[in-house]
Amino acid sequence: MIFGTVEKWGDDGHALKGKGTGIEDAIKAGFDTFDTAPVYLNEKEVGNDLEGIFQVQSKLDYFKWGYENVIEEFEKSSEHLSITTYLIHWPVLPLKELKETWRAFEHLKNEGQVEKIGVCNFTIKHLHKLLDICETPPDINQFELNIFCQNDELVNECNRHNIEVQSYSSICRGNPPSLPGETSISSGVMLDWLLSKGVNPIVRSTKINRLQEMIKLESGLTERSLDHYKEYDRQFRRCPDPNTMGDW
Ligand SMILES: NC(=O)c1ccc[n+]([C@@H]2O[C@H](COP(=O)([O-])OP(=O)(O)OC[C@H]3O[C@@H](n4cnc5c(N)ncnc54)[C@H](OP(=O)(O)O)[C@@H]3O)[C@@H](O)[C@H]2O)c1
Repeated sequence: MIFGTVEKWGDDGHALKGKGTGIEDAIKAGFDTFDTAPVYLNEKEVGNDLEGIFQVQSKLDYFKWGYENVIEEFEKSSEHLSITTYLIHWPVLPLKELKETWRAFEHLKNEGQVEKIGVCNFTIKHLHKLLDICETPPDINQFELNIFCQNDELVNECNRHNIEVQSYSSICRGNPPSLPGETSISSGVMLDWLLSKGVNPIVRSTKINRLQEMIKLESGLTERSLDHYKEYDRQFRRCPDPNTMGDW
């Protein structure tokens, strides 16, 4: 399980500065992996709050594609953070830029500057284009995934290629859609659903007791329960749908 560091979401969907990273409590609760990005406006604070040895993921800024830009952006972020995993944030780059962009990611991994490289918000279509041109496949795909936004085919495709699936909006930001006639689904069940599917969820709370509850969860849903939850899929999203992105 990964601790997400977005402090606050603005009405326009962008991350805003809040009251702090929340990392101190997350470490107390037992988290050892942290997720950030330049657009979260907190890489410096995350770096300051992470004293010790941790796994830290950051991401390439949206429109900084191309080999030189990747290396430059990585170096900029590395002034603040000891990055262990570097990800493409959104598939907004033109397809013709993908190869050179990914070549820089491969270079960072080959040189031992990061342990893992990967992508976010890549659909099956995006993933196949990347797998077609890469020498080193992505280790990770991070995308919006929860009981109300199921992505079974994409999860299966990632599993088929040994790509770790990380979910965000794992608990619909604590505000899942209402289900007429149904009792509401707890955050615990939503996380159990992800863990039972072999997903590594990103979570966030400003409350240490919630973090302590979340981190000790283990997968426990049977195939039958997973089948039962299939009908809860509403393709309910908090972030833009990556299926609409890229003329790939
Ligand atoms: N790659 C991408 O494009 C992308 C996009 C979005 C997010 N992310 C990553 O994923 C992380 C998490 O994203 P998220 O904020 O969208 O998702 P989330 O984990 O679904 O929601 C976090 C929110 O849930 C609330 N919450 C936590 N436990 C709760 C509980 N038991 N009951 C009710 N509410 C609860 C928290 O409020 P309290 O503080 O009050 O507990 C917090 O506001 C981000 O920080 C970021 O690192 C990545």
